[in-house]
Formats: sequence, structure tokens, C-alpha cells
Amino acid sequence: MSKKVYICRGKSCKSADPEKSLEKYARKIVGKDKIKKTKCLGLCKSAFAIEYKGEKYSCITKSEMEGILPLKK
Ligand code: FES
Repeated sequence: MSKKVYICRGKSCKSADPEKSLEKYARKIVGKDKIKKTKCLGLCKSAFAIEYKGEKYSCITKSEMEGILPLKK
């Protein structure tokens, strides 16, 4: 199973994170090489969305993201 973090860059998620601050934070947590951008993950109503280890998550805050993603080693 992929350990990459897929960051949705669909329209709703772009609107939810216009400054890309959540995307940048995800990069900081897991490392730049583990981040991939993807199309809509189907969670538009609760955007911002990511996919990790085959699970999709709606990440609204940085602290929620910290609970989902592994720390960079
Ligand atoms: S645009 Fe991100 S889940 Fe649909």
C-alpha cells in the first residue's frame, strides 16, 4: 500500500485552501517527496481532502492533519 499522501487539487479543495497552507503543512509533516497531487477525491462537501494508505479524509484543520499523517523521519 502506498505511503504517499494524495492532496486533492479539485475545485472545492482549491477553494478551501486558496493559499495552499494545508498543502504546505502536509509537506512539512511528511516530507516533500511523499506528497502527490490528485483530482477530486469525492469529498467536495467537506473539502479539504487527502488520501493516505487507501483511506480518504477531510482535513479542515492542521491539527486534524497531524492526527492522520505520519511525522517526517
Ligand atoms: S474537489 Fe477535493 S474532494 Fe472534490
